[in-house]
Amino acid sequence: MEIVVVGTGYVGLVTAVCLAEYGHKVTCVDIDENKINKLRDGISPIYEQDLEELMKKNSKRLRYTTDYMSAYKDAEVIFIGVGTPEKKDGSANLSYVYAVAKQIAESVDHSCVVVLKSTVPIGTNDKVLKILNDNKKTSIKINIVSNPEFLAQGTAVRDTLHASRIVIGVDNEDAEKVMREVYKEYDAPILVTDSRSAEMVKYASNDFLALKISYINEIANLCEIVGAKVEDVAKGMGYDSRIGDKFLNAGIGYGGSCFPKDTKALHWLANMNDYELKTVKAAIEVNEQQKLRLIKKSRKYYDNFEGLTVAILGLTFKPGTDDLREAASIINIPIILDDGANIKAFDPVGIENFKKTMKYGDVEGLDRISYFNNIDDTIKDTDICFIFTEWDEIKNYDISKFRKLMKRPILLDGRNCYSLSDAESYGVIYMGIGK
Ligand code: UGA
Repeated sequence: MEIVVVGTGYVGLVTAVCLAEYGHKVTCVDIDENKINKLRDGISPIYEQDLEELMKKNSKRLRYTTDYMSAYKDAEVIFIGVGTPEKKDGSANLSYVYAVAKQIAESVDHSCVVVLKSTVPIGTNDKVLKILNDNKKTSIKINIVSNPEFLAQGTAVRDTLHASRIVIGVDNEDAEKVMREVYKEYDAPILVTDSRSAEMVKYASNDFLALKISYINEIANLCEIVGAKVEDVAKGMGYDSRIGDKFLNAGIGYGGSCFPKDTKALHWLANMNDYELKTVKAAIEVNEQQKLRLIKKSRKYYDNFEGLTVAILGLTFKPGTDDLREAASIINIPIILDDGANIKAFDPVGIENFKKTMKYGDVEGLDRISYFNNIDDTIKDTDICFIFTEWDEIKNYDISKFRKLMKRPILLDGRNCYSLSDAESYGVIYMGIGK
């Protein structure tokens, strides 16, 4: 099929490349010329496992352009995968989605299906359909479909090629038929429902996972008080298939571009409708407090960090990505700097993004951070070490070296990379989460 995907961010680009892998001819449209030029050179603007290889493998079926008019010309299906960033009040900013919808309506001269992949508040598909109908030039039929994306960063290609489910929110059989054709090679259950339910599946899924994390984090905090081990508790819970063993890793809270944004957006939407989502509100509050958990623990050893050297292992919001959005590092590093510390930071891929993100903020003391590409040099002669991301390099690191290389071997582990007994046996002063 002739498919267009608008937006070459995580959702758009991965969707496009995977659709090409399953045999469709896909044109990627973006307003950012730099991105398009990179893509034409076979370079992915995002760091994602297997993506570039798949781009190269399917290069004959993939086209990249900023010229949306020519792209829409023969498209049977147009996916919208542009961003819906968080606004100051917690709601989703839909201006990019609406702008693309208007552009499509003004450009296409044939009947087609428009598919909304971006995460959008309930009711957005109806609004987009209205924009399409109000702005189309002729009496062509443009159908709208809600088709939320469930990929996670770091495993985006795998999550898309081998999707857990395909949700299609649609109000007519013709559009449903087209979508079944789009996904005919995919081996995943297909749920067909109305567009509002499809939109809700996405939020309800993400918010449930966020809630699960905040729940285990609270249990972890209580484990510390009453002398239990959260890792064993989570294992014991996970054997119950009604609970499941995934997303029960206690830590320094969830980050990324999705959970923080989607919990706030659904909470906001409920408020707007005079309903309070108490569980989601609690998940948000617990997460905000959890991000500061290690700093609070560090007060046991130092009243402040004035004149000390602090090691930071891991800057990204999770391993396998260079994304720093809502990462624990972004919240904690300014506090540590403000406290007077010098920082030595390690991350396998996130350093450049970290520098870019911090440069434009109003963070004092960034010149007191030095960056390293190995853990030995990072922790050498430091007074305390924080772990914010569970990269393999960190998990597999020889724990005895914290004792050998640090000035004072105090290790605060926000991702439970090590066991308490190992740390103790090597003379490391260790505090994880929930043990
Ligand atoms: C998340 C969902 O997992 C995807 O299903 C969804 O499609 C995506 O959002 C989206 O809406 O686009 P992502 O944000 O890439 O994916 O990352 P996750 O792997 O879910 O991790 C999110 C955060 O939760 C990370 O900071 C991670 O460290 C944290 N986390 C995860 C925990 O603290 N504990 C866990 O047990 C699992």
